[in-house]
Amino acid sequence: MQLQLCTWQEVEAYLAKSRGIILPIGSTEQHGPNGLIGTDAITAEAIARGVGEAVGALVAPTIAVGMAQHHLGFCGSMTLRPSTLIAVVRDMIESLARHGFERFYFINGHGGNIATVTAAFSEVYAARSLQAAGNAPPLVCRLKNWWQTPGIGALSKELFGDAEGSHATPSEVAVTQFLYPQAIKKASLDPPVAPKGDFADAADYRRNFPDGRIGSNPGLATPEHGKRIYETAVAELAADYRSWVG
Ligand code: NI
Repeated sequence: MQLQLCTWQEVEAYLAKSRGIILPIGSTEQHGPNGLIGTDAITAEAIARGVGEAVGALVAPTIAVGMAQHHLGFCGSMTLRPSTLIAVVRDMIESLARHGFERFYFINGHGGNIATVTAAFSEVYAARSLQAAGNAPPLVCRLKNWWQTPGIGALSKELFGDAEGSHATPSEVAVTQFLYPQAIKKASLDPPVAPKGDFADAADYRRNFPDGRIGSNPGLATPEHGKRIYETAVAELAADYRSWVG
């Protein structure tokens, strides 16, 4: 169930039986020569909606622009400053909490969001804990990175081995190919497996990783692999959501 496709009366009725909501968060940033700019938002949104259907939970609108300053050396990439993203996440949680939502389950598609979203959770908790009444009713937030569930780790190892890498991975590119076959891109990847390493800011990233990939060979992505990865992520996160929300 998507929040955007409900009426307010339907949301009111939902709250009588559940206090949980799923919030997809991604990024709008380069994903190498054959990866879509929207990869992280597209994957997080589709997996979140799949989980929402599996567990009967509401799914909030996707936060499609994340913390991606390190990708700004590549055309089309957009970022929110950490302080902006903290404010966005906090305002979304507190808007929903006003209506009675208490459990906020973020499904994340972008590693660069982790520190900032975690900081946003701390801001929410701090504001609540500093009140005399404390965090009551208790708001609880959870961030799950869809690519880091145990089943996805095993599957990406089986499908791609060490060529999974850490950015513009064959796993995430495959999921977008499954979801948007009309947008599959062909590109020559040289070297096939991109270099690994570190970076600081956007210029440093571009210098170290000239085509945008880190450690990956997204040429191995196929829509069929993407379907398996999508289904595994939905199943694992649905089980996690069920046990977390109760
Ligand atoms: Ni990504």
